[in-house]
Amino acid sequence: RKDIEERVEETYIMVKPDGVQRGLVGEIISRFEKKGFKLKGLKLFQCSKELAEEHYKDLKAKSFFPKLIDYITSGPVVSMAWEGVGVVASARKLIGSTDPLQAEPGTIRGDLAVQTGRNIVHGSDSPENGQREIALWFKEGELCEWTPVLAPWLR
Ligand code: TYD
Repeated sequence: RKDIEERVEETYIMVKPDGVQRGLVGEIISRFEKKGFKLKGLKLFQCSKELAEEHYKDLKAKSFFPKLIDYITSGPVVSMAWEGVGVVASARKLIGSTDPLQAEPGTIRGDLAVQTGRNIVHGSDSPENGQREIALWFKEGELCEWTPVLAPWLR
């Protein structure tokens, strides 16, 4: 039990504006729920240019950066915090490769998207970035600590 507890992580998952526009919010949330992770935070949110730039600061030097910021700020996103054992890497697997045409069928991007610049969902790439991004996108009091009563594997 203790070694399992030590591997509990948190990740920041975001349905990007195209996912919201296409009505894929429920589908995307559902995949993380069904996998067995625990939802700790959820909101529909229109982000500022400043927040988008901070979120993607490691990509600032890339040629696609301005387009990426325009895309992420083009409409509301759905911000989520998910908790679970190994949730960071597992969520990346559920999401699939950055380029949806390379993403395996069965993954969110593999099933539901075709363009890198419209790949419908974001997931943190490390536990450290999970913590950083949750702190960036959620304010104090917006996250819930709760104990799943009927599904103890959710902790
Ligand atoms: P990245 O962090 O490399 O991918 P991921 O979202 O899979 O962690 O890139 C962040 C986002 O930037 C990516 O989801 C879509 C966009 N992007 C482009 O528009 N063009 C590109 O060539 C790349 C690599 C990313």
